[in-house]
Order: sequence, then structure tokens, then C-alpha cells
Amino acid sequence: MSKLQIKNISKSYSNTCILNNINLQVEEGEFIVLVGPSGSGKSTILRIIAGLEQPSNGEVIINNRVVNNLPPKDRNISMVFQNYALYPHMNVYDNLAFPLKMQHVKKENLEQSITKVSEMLGINNHLRKRPKELSGGERQRVALGRAIIRSPQLFLMDEPLSNLDAKLRTQMRAELLKLHKTLSSTVIYVTHDQIEALTMGNRIVVLNKGQVQQIGTPHEIYSNPQNIFTATFIGNPGMNLFDIKVLDNSDILIYDEKIISNMSSNLKELFTRKNLINKKIKAGIRPEHMKITNSPAAENEANISGNINLLEVLGNEYLIHVSSVFKKQESLFVIKVFGECNLGRNEKINISFDLKKLYFFNPETGERIHL
Ligand SMILES: Nc1ncnc2c1ncn2[C@@H]1O[C@H](COP(=O)(O)OP(=O)(O)O)[C@@H](O)[C@H]1O
Ligand SMILES: [Mg+2]
Repeated sequence: MSKLQIKNISKSYSNTCILNNINLQVEEGEFIVLVGPSGSGKSTILRIIAGLEQPSNGEVIINNRVVNNLPPKDRNISMVFQNYALYPHMNVYDNLAFPLKMQHVKKENLEQSITKVSEMLGINNHLRKRPKELSGGERQRVALGRAIIRSPQLFLMDEPLSNLDAKLRTQMRAELLKLHKTLSSTVIYVTHDQIEALTMGNRIVVLNKGQVQQIGTPHEIYSNPQNIFTATFIGNPGMNLFDIKVLDNSDILIYDEKIISNMSSNLKELFTRKNLINKKIKAGIRPEHMKITNSPAAENEANISGNINLLEVLGNEYLIHVSSVFKKQESLFVIKVFGECNLGRNEKINISFDLKKLYFFNPETGERIHL
């Protein structure tokens, strides 16, 4: 029995389709992250699960029961928002007590719950303060406390950490995961931040324009993306893309008729079998799989030369932005280098990569081509 099932959910406002046939199954105790750019429909999905919004089509099923007609208050779901949504005129104690009072919990049990939750979240010294007397992180803890205090069967969190500064966000991520473990709760967590998705989710749902692009574990999503959207959205930075063509009589080419590699006959055979010879294909490579080199390419390696446009220093790693111009077309690559790097802007470099690290996509549909 899965905890939550979203079945063929669609949503339109006037004639605009916001969600297009969403399907998702969430198991008891899972931490699921919905990730996608702004406007991709993440909040709308949460609001439909919570019952704050009705779907145009499809069913929301909780514990095997269709809840489409159940009002939000009867769904036993807690929601945490980006802007905390605390009551400004109430102190922390009363903010935490509010959901329990709504359920007519006895005073004695109420006190016990507040003590337990406030200790768990480290806000027990702030119970008499109002929200405006707290820091962002403390406020977010109170909002979390208010969500967990009545032990709901499902937590929905809509970008709950995006108002926090970077350091606090990292700390709160860890705390949320710890809390999830302690409570063995089922969580649907929304973020636009792919790093947050990769670090937090048991499984990730990648959304774009109201459509599910891919569902999988962080590792699957990163190492086995099924389309161009997922490949470029996930990863920091995302996958590099460039056009290639495999010619009948020669090797793998970058589109501009420049030979970049000597392919083994085995690899070429795979392209032949898929009827991809002489066709334009999108190739993708992760920034960490490209390296700067002076040696010529070995078999099944490719060489590309280019100019450094920009060097980004990220502490112990560098992102090197390279433009590679052939006859007509410019391809832009970002290479990730760990450790020292003594290159400068406008320097000409030679890049190599292993053809086995390449991903291939249909340039029209964006779908992955598995060789
Ligand atoms: N009440 C509404 N009326 C019309 N359009 C809406 C409404 N709510 C959301 N939308 C549109 O639906 C799309 C998805 O919104 P949302 O779910 O908030 O995206 P996300 O949370 O991923 O940023 C956006 O283009 C938004 O403008
Ligand atoms: Mg949103």
C-alpha cells in the first residue's frame, strides 16, 4: 500500500494547461523532492495534494482512499511554506499550540507536545518570543515545529529553506533529514534548487512546464538522465551539449566537419545499428568528464580545442568556460577542474574526453538515445 498516489492529475486555468497528466506513487516514509524551474507547477501539485486546489482531472489517493472530495482539514496533512506563515501577534508557544488547540487537545498533552517539539528543534528558549524577535532560521524551526506537532500522516514542504542564507540552509537541510529519520514521516519537498534535490531526496521528481521529466534516485537522475532537460537542469553546472555527426566513412565529428575522434569499430557499429549514421545528434558530456590535456586523443577519446572565456574559482575547484569555434558554429563548454589551475582568460587549450562518457539525445524531441 503506498502512502500517496497521484493519478493522471492535470490542471488548467482558463485554457492554459499548468499540469499535464502527472503520475506519482510515494511510499510510506519516503522523502520525495519535486524539483523544477520557477513556474513548472511544483506548488500547484502540493496545493492539489493538500486540497487547497482542485485538479481539472485525475485523482489524489492517500492510504488507498481517493481524497478529491475531502476538505484540507480532514486530510491530516501539514504544509510548511517558504515564508514561514507564522502568526505575528502570537509568541512561539502559542504558534506551536495553535494546531493542537484546533484539535481540542487537552492542556496537559498540549504542554507535553510543545516541550518535546521545541526541545527537538532547539527553540525551547524562545517560547515567549514573538516571530519578529527571532532570526530567519529560528522562525523556520518554529514553522517546522508547528507542522510536526500534530503528527500528520504527510508533510508537504514548499521551498521551506529558500529564505535562509547559504550556511543556515545547509545546516537546516541536515536538520530536516535528521528530523525525517526520527519521525519516519512521509515528506514531499519542493525546491527549485537541484543541489538541494540531490542531497535531500530518496527519490527526485524532475518537473518542467507541468510535465514530469523523470523520476528516480539522485544517482539515477544524475548518471542516467532520460532527456536533455534533466541532463542540463541537474548538475552544477549542467551537462555540456554539442552537435555531432557520425559519418559513414570516417569518425565522430563535431558538426562543423571537424574530426574530433577516432572511434573504435565497436562504437561505430552501435551507431550503425541505431541507424544514426550521417544524422545530426546532440551529444552531452558532464563538466567533470572533460580534461585539459596536451596529448593527442587515444582511440575512443575526443579532442577539441578552444579559448577560455571565463574562469570561475570555487575554492578547491574551477569552472573553465571555453568556446570552441569551428568553421561556422560556436560550441560552449564548461569544464570542472579540481585542485590547482594556473590558466588565464583567452588562453587556448586542448580538451579531451572519453567517448564512453558521452550521452546522446534526439535533437528534435530531446529524448535520450541509448546506444
Ligand atoms: N490561480 C492561478 N491562476 C492562473 N495561473 C496560475 C495560478 N496559480 C498558478 N498559476 C500558474 O501556474 C504555473 C505553475 O505555477 P506554480 O505551481 O506556482 O509553479 P512553481 O511552484 O513550480 O514555481 C505558473 O505559470 C503560474 O503562473
Ligand atoms: Mg512554487
